[in-house]
Amino acid sequence: MNYLHAIYHFIRHLLQSKKGGHGVHSPFVYQLIKEVIDNTDQYYVFEDIESLRAKLLLTEQEIIVEDLGAGSRTTKKNKRTIRSIAKAALKPKKQAQLLFRLGNHFQPEVAIELGTSFGLSSLYLSQWGEKNKLITIEGCHNIAKVAQLNFQKLNAKNITSVIGEFSQQLPIALKQLDKVDLVYFDGNHTEDATIGYFEQCLPYTTNESIFIFDDIYWSKGMTKAWKKIKINKRVKVTIDLFHFGLVFFRNEQTKEDFTVYH
Ligand SMILES: C[S@@+](CC[C@H](N)C(=O)[O-])C[C@H]1O[C@@H](n2cnc3c(N)ncnc32)[C@H](O)[C@@H]1O
Repeated sequence: MNYLHAIYHFIRHLLQSKKGGHGVHSPFVYQLIKEVIDNTDQYYVFEDIESLRAKLLLTEQEIIVEDLGAGSRTTKKNKRTIRSIAKAALKPKKQAQLLFRLGNHFQPEVAIELGTSFGLSSLYLSQWGEKNKLITIEGCHNIAKVAQLNFQKLNAKNITSVIGEFSQQLPIALKQLDKVDLVYFDGNHTEDATIGYFEQCLPYTTNESIFIFDDIYWSKGMTKAWKKIKINKRVKVTIDLFHFGLVFFRNEQTKEDFTVYH
């Protein structure tokens, strides 16, 4: 992470972002802020998922991690404790619970997640329902195995865990689908890779699809990727939440970009 870049943009975000829907004239975005982004309702499954997080944060067991880096072909391997990975890689509770609320609100039938890690965001993204389907892709075998155990613990039968490089597994996953309703991009944070995944998923979108980009201010490259995505002519509404960039394709909307406090 480029900390200077992230801090600069965080301060800008605090100064520019709209709170509580004030000054937002789009009814679609206003409703989203009120009902989803600012919503603080708790669901039973939140406790179950957070208790998995608490266990991971106490697990001193070491695993061999294949560091896929920036999509590099030369995989670095090193030993890390489950605890340290959980601390560094998982989306914090507040942001992860927004993924649940977005799912619950838009009810995507078919979703893809790039970057499973230990599966907490996968659970938040999918456990608002039973008939919806989530395909989640993770390149590190030992990390994915921990996620698969977590899915079993919560009996999350609607998640398909795929192990492999995004560049190989994303096209395979997409080929099996007619459309994709939601994609959560949370791994391999480089400009080229992010744009590449975005362009691969684009032909599978419908009017109602949502893309969620993680860490859009993680580096200059990620911020450049976010800017390119915003100006893509297929993209209509974008919402910058600092930690996430939300993308909507709704043809009925005029092209507009919002900066919203979360
Ligand atoms: C930030 S973590 C995902 C965190 C998870 N979504 C959560 O919040 O609970 C990103 C994951 O993507 C995986 N990853 C990164 N680059 C990858 C690539 N090119 N192919 C496959 N997996 C990759 C990493 O191994 C890592 O576990």
